[in-house]
Amino acid sequence: WKTSSLVVALVTGAGSAFAACDPGEVVIKFSHVTNTDKHPKGIAATLLEQRINEEMDGKACMEVFPNSTLYNDDKVLEAMLQGDVQLAAPSLSKFEKFTKKFRIFDLPFLFKNIEAVDAFQTSDAGQALLDSMQRRGLQGLTFWHNGMKQMSANVPLVTPADADGLKFRVMSSDVLVAQMEAIGGSPQKMAFSEVYGALQQGVVDGQENVWSNIYGKKFFEVQDGITETNHGIIDYLVVASVDWLDSLDPAVREQFLTILDEVTATRNSESYEVNQKNRQAILDAGGTIRTLTDDERQAWVTAMQPVWEQFTGDIGQDSLDAAVQINS
Ligand code: LMR
Repeated sequence: WKTSSLVVALVTGAGSAFAACDPGEVVIKFSHVTNTDKHPKGIAATLLEQRINEEMDGKACMEVFPNSTLYNDDKVLEAMLQGDVQLAAPSLSKFEKFTKKFRIFDLPFLFKNIEAVDAFQTSDAGQALLDSMQRRGLQGLTFWHNGMKQMSANVPLVTPADADGLKFRVMSSDVLVAQMEAIGGSPQKMAFSEVYGALQQGVVDGQENVWSNIYGKKFFEVQDGITETNHGIIDYLVVASVDWLDSLDPAVREQFLTILDEVTATRNSESYEVNQKNRQAILDAGGTIRTLTDDERQAWVTAMQPVWEQFTGDIGQDSLDAAVQINS
C-alpha cells in the first residue's frame, strides 16, 4: 500500500500546482523572479492571483511561480511566445531583445523618484511604450512599481573612483553596462537568481538594486555596505502575448484587465513604503547603509550622466524630452 499511497501523493502533489484550476478555465501561469512577500512585485502578484481565483472562478485561474522557479527573466519572454506562460513582469531593463525604447528607464539620474516614473508612464510617451513590442508578439498591459536603485560592493563606495576596477553585476541592459563602464567598473550581465552566489564567491564585487531586492535576496550580507545613491530605478512591465490576449473571450479579457488595473493602482501606491521597510530591515539585521552628501552624490551624477547621449537615438528625443520635463 505504501507504493500506491506514494503514487497518490505524487499525483496529488503534481495536481496541486493547478489546484485552483477546474476544467474549462483559462489557465494563467505567471512566472517571476522575486520573493512573494515584503516585495512590491511579489505582493502584487499574490494579490492578483487571489483576486483572479476568487472573482473569475469557473472562467480563469492563475498560478504564480515566484523566485525564478519556472523561468529566469532572460527566458520568460521566449517561453511566453511559445505559450508556456501567459503572464510575466520582468524589470524594464530586460526587454532589450524586443525594444530599445525602454532604455529610457535605465538612464542614470533621469528619474528623481517613483512618482516621476509614474508620471512619465501615464503620459502619452509612456503609454505608447505599452504597444512598442506588438510586432514582436508582446503586449504591455501595465507598469508595476518598485523603486530607486542603490549601489553596493565588497569595499566602501563613497566616490565614483571607489568603483574603479570593480566587477559589477548588471541586468541585461546595455545602458547599465555603459553606466558601470563610466565609473571605471567592469560590468557583467547576470540573471537575478545568480547574483547572491556571484557576490558571495567574488565572481563579481558589487551590484546595484532596490532595497526590496537587496534585503529580500540578502545581498547586504555578502557586501561591505550599501550606498544610498538613488541613481536609477527598477520598475516592471506586466506583459502578455498578443496571441494569448486575442484568444481570450472578450468578457474574460475585460474582467482580467480590470482586476489587473485595480491591483496595479493599489500596489503601486505602496511600493515606496515597501522599499523603506526593506531598508529598515537591512539596518535591523546589522547591514551598513552609507548616505551621501549633496556634493558626494553630484560626483556620481557627473560620472554617470554622460551615458545619456549614447542612447538618445534608441530612445527618441521626444520621449527623453518628456521625461526630462517631468523630472525638472
Ligand atoms: C534584477 O534582476 O535585479 C531585478 O530585475 C529583479 C526584479 O525583478 O526585481
